[in-house]
Formats: sequence, C-alpha cells, structure tokens
Amino acid sequence: MTVLSFLWVVGAMASLAMSTTLCQDCDFILCHKSQEKAAKNYIDTWNGDFSLENITFTPNVNLYQDRLPGSNGSIELSIGTSGEFIKFMKMAHTGWNHYQFVVQNIAFDKYNVVIRWALNATVGPHDKMIIPINKPEGSHITYNGTDWLYLDDCTGRIKRVDSAQDYITALHAQGLTDVKI
Ligand SMILES: *[C@@H]1O[C@H](CO)[C@@H](O)[C@H](O)[C@H]1NC(C)=O
Ligand SMILES: *[C@@H]1O[C@H](CO)[C@@H](O)[C@H](O)[C@H]1NC(C)=O
Ligand SMILES: *[C@@H]1O[C@H](CO)[C@@H](O)[C@H](O)[C@H]1NC(C)=O
Ligand SMILES: *[C@@H]1O[C@H](CO)[C@@H](O)[C@H](O)[C@H]1NC(C)=O
Repeated sequence: MTVLSFLWVVGAMASLAMSTTLCQDCDFILCHKSQEKAAKNYIDTWNGDFSLENITFTPNVNLYQDRLPGSNGSIELSIGTSGEFIKFMKMAHTGWNHYQFVVQNIAFDKYNVVIRWALNATVGPHDKMIIPINKPEGSHITYNGTDWLYLDDCTGRIKRVDSAQDYITALHAQGLTDVKI
C-alpha cells in the first residue's frame, strides 16, 4: 500500500466514524424522491391525515409565520413541537365544511422544499367557525400562500417551516375588510 492510499483509507475511516457518531440513526438519503415524499407528507398532514405526524416532522419542529387575525386584533402563535403543529392544523380545520390545500407549484433545493399552495375551502356553519368570517355558509374561499420546509439532514423529516399566507387577499376572501392590527 502506498503512503497516499494509506492516508486516503485512514481519512475515509475517520470521516465514516465521525458521521456515525454525529448521526446515530442516519437512514436518510437525499434525492428527488425523498424531497417529493417530504412535500407529500406535509400536504397530506395538512389535509387531515394527522397520523403522519411523526413521519412528517421532527419532534421539535418550529413554525414561523405572521401574527394571525383574531376577533380582538391579532395574536401570535408560537409552535415548537410536532404536537403543537398538529394542534394548530386541527384548529385551522375547525368549522369549515371543506378545507383542503392544493399544490400550485413546488421547488426543491437540497434540504429545502418550497411549496406555493392554494387553500380550497368552503365556509361551514357560523357557530362552528372559530375564525372571524363574514361570508355565508357554503361560500367557496380560496387564497394562496408559500411554505418553505427545511428538512433534517439526518432523518429527512421537516424540522422547520417558514410560512407566508397572502393575508390581505385571505382576509378579503373571508369578507373581512376592516381588520384591526
Ligand atoms: C408522535 O410522537 C409523540 C411523542 O412520542 C406522541 O406523543 C404522538 O402521539 C405521536 N403521534 C402519532 C400520530 O403517532
Ligand atoms: C376580546 O376583548 C373583549 C373585551 O375586552 C373580551 O371580553 C373578549 O373575551 C376578548 N376575546 C378574545 C377572543 O380574546
Ligand atoms: C376544491 O374543492 C372542491 C370541493 O369543495 C372540489 O370539488 C374541487 O375539485 C377542489 N379543487 C381542487 C383544485 O382540488
Ligand atoms: C393564486 O395563484 C395562482 C397562480 O399560481 C393565480 O392564478 C391565482 O389567481 C391566485 N389566487 C388568488 C386568490 O390570489
């Protein structure tokens, strides 16, 4: 064995040892298919398959987004676990007769997945709705938004989401034209 190839083997063994100690259960291989799977899991979870929680998210997933409109102005919602994320999704579904996200466009870059989506929803009975809404039951509501998913490089699960809804459009679609900030 030449000195050069010996050094190469030592180096390869060292980096192998390092990657296994850094990431014990590293079973994720980044490829287009795994990126698509992460996006599909996210949309399916949002569309009501909450059993996907621990396939889709890391336990300490963060959601960053703008303040949400509330009846007294706006509220901040901080989300730092997958359980809180699911709770937030269930809250978002509450009251609507139909509540579904449709993917308009999607972009992938390594551990980043960016989804441009549209909400496809139908207003439910007013006494069941928990967001302020000024449209009759049965009204179709749609608006767009963009979610940036950050994948964990060890598990491929989503560890962070930066979400931006088209809020002014959304509020007007919901019939709210004078919302206090
Ligand atoms: C996900 O894991 C957490 C923590 O182990 C658990 O409390 C929760 O029930 C799991 N969710 C699902 C849908 O299995
Ligand atoms: C909004 O403010 C009113 C008056 O201060 C209060 O009675 C009501 O509980 C508040 N509603 C919410 C959702 O915080
Ligand atoms: C939107 O939802 C309605 C049901 O309310 C459904 O008929 C329609 O196909 C959906 N649109 C898309 C693009 O999925
Ligand atoms: C949502 O975005 C699509 C383009 O992807 C556009 O055609 C549509 O008009 C937008 N809808 C609203 C309500 O802004």
